[in-house]
Amino acid sequence: MDAIIVVDALWGDSGKGKVAAFLSQRENASWCIRAGIGTNAGHSVYLSEEHVIRTRQLPLGFLHPATQVAIGSGVAVDPQIFHDEVARYGLQGRVQVDYRCPIITAEHIRREREHAHLVGTVGTTGSGSGMAQADFVLRQAQQAKDIPSLQPYLGDIAQVANEQARATSVIIECSQGTMLSLALSPDYPFVTSGNCTVVAAADDVGLNWRNIAGAVMVVKAVPSRVGAGPLPNEMERDEIRRRGIAEYGVVTGRLRRKASDIPWELLRYAAMLNNPTEIALTFCDHYDPHVVGATQVENLTPAIWELITRVEEATNAPVTIVETGKLFEHMIDVRKVGA
Ligand code: IMP
Ligand code: MG
Repeated sequence: MDAIIVVDALWGDSGKGKVAAFLSQRENASWCIRAGIGTNAGHSVYLSEEHVIRTRQLPLGFLHPATQVAIGSGVAVDPQIFHDEVARYGLQGRVQVDYRCPIITAEHIRREREHAHLVGTVGTTGSGSGMAQADFVLRQAQQAKDIPSLQPYLGDIAQVANEQARATSVIIECSQGTMLSLALSPDYPFVTSGNCTVVAAADDVGLNWRNIAGAVMVVKAVPSRVGAGPLPNEMERDEIRRRGIAEYGVVTGRLRRKASDIPWELLRYAAMLNNPTEIALTFCDHYDPHVVGATQVENLTPAIWELITRVEEATNAPVTIVETGKLFEHMIDVRKVGA
C-alpha cells in the first residue's frame, strides 16, 4: 500500500531508528529497510533503563515482530558488524542484504582512521563507510555477493521494496541527516559521503518514486552536531552539563555539540528538500524538562505545544510523533490531536 521514508532534518542523532521502529509498529510494516551511507550511524532504543538495543548496520524495525529487515544496495556493509547484530538480536531468517551492497573492509577502516583530512578537518566517525563508498565509485569495492558469509542473506532489495510497497507497508530508515548531505549541505567539507534526503534514501534502496507515499522528517528539539562544521546557536559545554542534557556519540563516544535553538532557516531548507508529510519531534525532554517521560498527550506543556506550532509552520507538515524520553514508550502519537 505504501512506503514511508524516515529522514533527519539537520545533523542526525535525532532518534531516526527509534522513529522507524515506532512506525514499523504503527503501520504494521512487512519490511523495514535501511538506507543511508553505512555503519557511521548508531541507532539505539531503550526498551527499559537496563535493556538497550543498539545497531549500526540493521534498521530497528525488527522490534516489531511482524517486520522483516533488509539493507538497501546503496548502503555500505561491514560483514563483521552485520553478523554481530544478527546474532545478538537473533535475526536469522528475518534479514536480507542486497547482493549489490559495497563492502567495508578492515583496510577501509584503517585508511579512514589514518586520513589526516577526514580525521583532523571533517571529524569522520572512522567507520570505513566513506572509504568503501569511494572504492565503490572507483568500481573496485567488493559487493555483498562476493562475501561467502553473506550468501544466506542475499536478496534483491529493490525488488522487495517495490513489490512490498505496493502490496503492504514498508518503512525506509535513512541514516545521518539532511544537513550532512554531501551535495546538498551548505557545509562541505563538513559532511558525510552521500546525500541523506528522502529521494536519496529511496535511491539507496532502489524504491521508485511512485512508491513513496510519505516522508517522516525527524526534528530534534535541541539540535546537536558531532564532528566539525557550523552549528548555529551553539551552547557552551558547561551549559550542556548544567542542563543535564549531555549526549555522547553511539559510534565514537564523542560529546555531542548542542544548539540552544533550532536553526529555523536550515529547517525550512530541509523541509523544501524533503517535503515531509509528517514530523517526529524528538528530544522534547531536553527542550522542556517538565515533559520528561510523558506518555500522554495531556502531559505535554505549553512550551512544547508552542514549539510544535513553530515547527509545523516552518516545515508545513503536521507533528505526528512527540518523543519525551529515551524509552521506547516515551513516544506519543499526537495524530488525533493535530487532526
Ligand atoms: P563520516 O561520514 O563518518 O566520514 O563523517 C563525516 C561527518 O558526518 C562527521 O562530522 C561526522 O560526525 C558526521 N556523521 C557521520 N555519520 C553521522 C551520524 O550517524 N550521526 C551524526 N553525525 C554523523
Ligand atoms: Mg547513497
